[in-house]
Amino acid sequence: MRTWIQDIGKKENGEVKIYGWVETRRDHGKIIFIDLRDKTGIAQVVFGTEDKELYQKANKLRNEWVIKIEGTVKKRPKGMENPNLTTGNFEISAKNLEILSEAKTLPIAIDKDGYEINEEARLRYRYLDLRRKRIFKNLKCRHLAFKFIRDWLTNKGFLEVETPILGKSTPEGARDYLVPSRLERGKFYALPQSPQQYKQLLMVAGIERYFQIARCFRDEDTRGDRQPEFTQLDLEMSFVEEHDVLSLVEALFTDLVKKIFPEKQITKIPFPRLDYQEAIKQYNSDKPDLRKNKNNNNELSFVFIVNFPMFEWKKESSYAEASEGKEKRLAGRSLGEGRWDAVHHPFTRIKNEELRIKNRGEFIKYIKENPQELIAHQYDLVCNGYEIGGGSIREHNPEILEAVFEIMGHNKKDIREKFGHLLDAFEYGVPPHGGIALGLDRILMILMNEPNIREVMAFPKTGDGRDLMMGAPSEVDKNQLKELGLEIKSRRKVGTPTEASEKTKR
Ligand code: AMO
Repeated sequence: MRTWIQDIGKKENGEVKIYGWVETRRDHGKIIFIDLRDKTGIAQVVFGTEDKELYQKANKLRNEWVIKIEGTVKKRPKGMENPNLTTGNFEISAKNLEILSEAKTLPIAIDKDGYEINEEARLRYRYLDLRRKRIFKNLKCRHLAFKFIRDWLTNKGFLEVETPILGKSTPEGARDYLVPSRLERGKFYALPQSPQQYKQLLMVAGIERYFQIARCFRDEDTRGDRQPEFTQLDLEMSFVEEHDVLSLVEALFTDLVKKIFPEKQITKIPFPRLDYQEAIKQYNSDKPDLRKNKNNNNELSFVFIVNFPMFEWKKESSYAEASEGKEKRLAGRSLGEGRWDAVHHPFTRIKNEELRIKNRGEFIKYIKENPQELIAHQYDLVCNGYEIGGGSIREHNPEILEAVFEIMGHNKKDIREKFGHLLDAFEYGVPPHGGIALGLDRILMILMNEPNIREVMAFPKTGDGRDLMMGAPSEVDKNQLKELGLEIKSRRKVGTPTEASEKTKR
């Protein structure tokens, strides 16, 4: 049976079988030392000249070769211990060596943090870059954090439900990644920008407490805290108010930090709640960094930003809408070309509760005439100056929801086509509901003191959205295109700027 390297100390004078990669080989004439690495640690293996054949074989070993060692665990002679290794009081006297695979000289060094290495090289050889201790630790903490979150929410009565990756394009803010349908030529699926509508439909289904560690896809320009493909902790709850959602998130993060990142200190619990307008006035930002000491790597300053405006005037229309000529329909408004867009998303409930007391018709008339006046039931979670989450209490009245879509410039036909499923569902007993989504890559980046979310993802894309290791995106076979009824009219070279600007918030 295999022994993990971290456990060799428990087997003093015993025989062990260990496997791993050669970290270093030191040749001391009559003795060869190998540092052997597995995922749990490093062990020193000793080859003497008594067994000539074994010694000769060990002499051939080079860094990163994969080997199997059988040998005896010995206490190291006094004065020869290595306090830098957890196994540093022991070594393995080799009896047998099997070379399982050889390795060429690595194209990138993996013994240091790697920040100094050109990122293209790191990403091209990501499978080697992942051997780096720092990145391995990041992946391990990511796993522990996800496991903690899953257990914590399960204990609170949440159900993890997977929602489709092949979905329908809905204008939620960023550009969609589209997937052509083979069976219905000319039609497309869209990869989800978030599971927003599915999770709301799960509330209609009576799930009441949903979560998902969900992959989301947004075709927007990449930057340090943004990737085209990223992971959210997506939550939705029925029969809740804003403070229920915020308290739950606050408790989850407080417990997560205490348990998995105990070296971190949270500046203030309960997390402060700051009005959007106040944040802008005081800090000129809706994601202020409220750390007491910005040089302290272990300080976490969470703050909820609340009371966002419901709508903002968008000068440029989104990619999808421009192609539908919506700009033309909306032209002539006093604010110039553009349209009202939801600051968060259209599913958000309008907070001005005093207006709802009027009859529904009057309320709808008011919101259509005064979109600039309306406050949203929206909240963001900010940590150390990063937006790490966003959510809202939802509008569950189909008539009001329809009015919101109309304010955003959709006509009745559009609304039916794009949101009919949700409006229909809301006719069959919809509970009031609300939720939030937390950007897990961003949170981990902060918790692991990393400068970039790529450092906490196994296989991230480059700044221009490429996977250098796999060579994606790539051209496809002509026959594949033919089957889909597609034809490439023009190609764009990597590095050519795209025509659309990025959207900062949805
Ligand atoms: P929102 O669009 O605010 O809300 O997204 C929630 C959080 O996801 C993270 N995030 C990203 N992380 C990495 N790369 C990206 N490209 C990226 N885009 C967003 C951010 C952000 O705060 N459906 C709603 C949630 C809801 O209303 O419940 C949503 O997705 O940390």
